[in-house]
Amino acid sequence: MLDVRELTTSYGAVTALDRLTFSAPRGKITAVLGANGAGKTTLLRTLSGLVRPTHGSAELEGADLVRTPTEAMSGLGLAHVPEGRGVITELTVEENLRLGGLGRSARSQAAPLDRVFTLFPVLSDRRNAIAHVLSGGERQMLVIGRALMATPKILLLDEPSLGLAPRVVGQIFDLLRSLVESDGLTVLLVEQNARSALSIADFGVVLNLGRLVVHDEAAVLAADEKLRHAYLGF
Ligand SMILES: Nc1ncnc2c1ncn2[C@@H]1O[C@H](COP(=O)(O)OP(=O)(O)OP(=O)(O)O)[C@@H](O)[C@H]1O
Ligand SMILES: [Mg+2]
Repeated sequence: MLDVRELTTSYGAVTALDRLTFSAPRGKITAVLGANGAGKTTLLRTLSGLVRPTHGSAELEGADLVRTPTEAMSGLGLAHVPEGRGVITELTVEENLRLGGLGRSARSQAAPLDRVFTLFPVLSDRRNAIAHVLSGGERQMLVIGRALMATPKILLLDEPSLGLAPRVVGQIFDLLRSLVESDGLTVLLVEQNARSALSIADFGVVLNLGRLVVHDEAAVLAADEKLRHAYLGF
């Protein structure tokens, strides 16, 4: 589904991604793990065209992401949920969701909107509330829902669990798992919370200083005590 080869991204003299090679299979969750500054956010920003690599390639089902303008990523089936849960607080929940389906007619937004409301009943209950009143967990659901409005094939998520209570993280992760299983979505999940991420992921990629440390099945990584202590913090 996603093939990354020798991907290298620099900010001036800082090489944030250093010849990173891995692939993420369709209909699976691949967790991207590593300490602060490992290059996780840079990987997502490079895949969605917000920064351009200095070397290497990234392909989504054979389509070249490195040469695709950011605004055309959604047409290729890629959706990026950046860290920080940015929503437009003055707009309602439903209006925020509809922003994710921008460019589609109201009629063709109907099915994805229904799907999002089924996945997140709490958003359905609050569809006419302004986003300002949402809790952190609800905002995280809203930004994921907004990304799903474009009916992506692959969802890139940056630190969705940051600052949320374990129970809420559990809800969001369970939902990701069911999306992958029922809708065949492919997910690249960037997380500092490696233990939780590995518990729902199929595969994991561990980065350190922009380089690949290991890429394996999630269960294998979670069972590797040395790796956990050295890179995953649990
Ligand atoms: N806009 C930028 N300009 C210069 N250097 C940057 C920029 N963004 C990131 N970096 C550097 O690139 C490296 C990788 O950063 P990145 O944000 O990708 O790491 P990360 O794994 O997402 O870290 P965190 O867990 O803290 O979010 C770090 O050394 C960081 O200081
Ligand atoms: Mg980051």
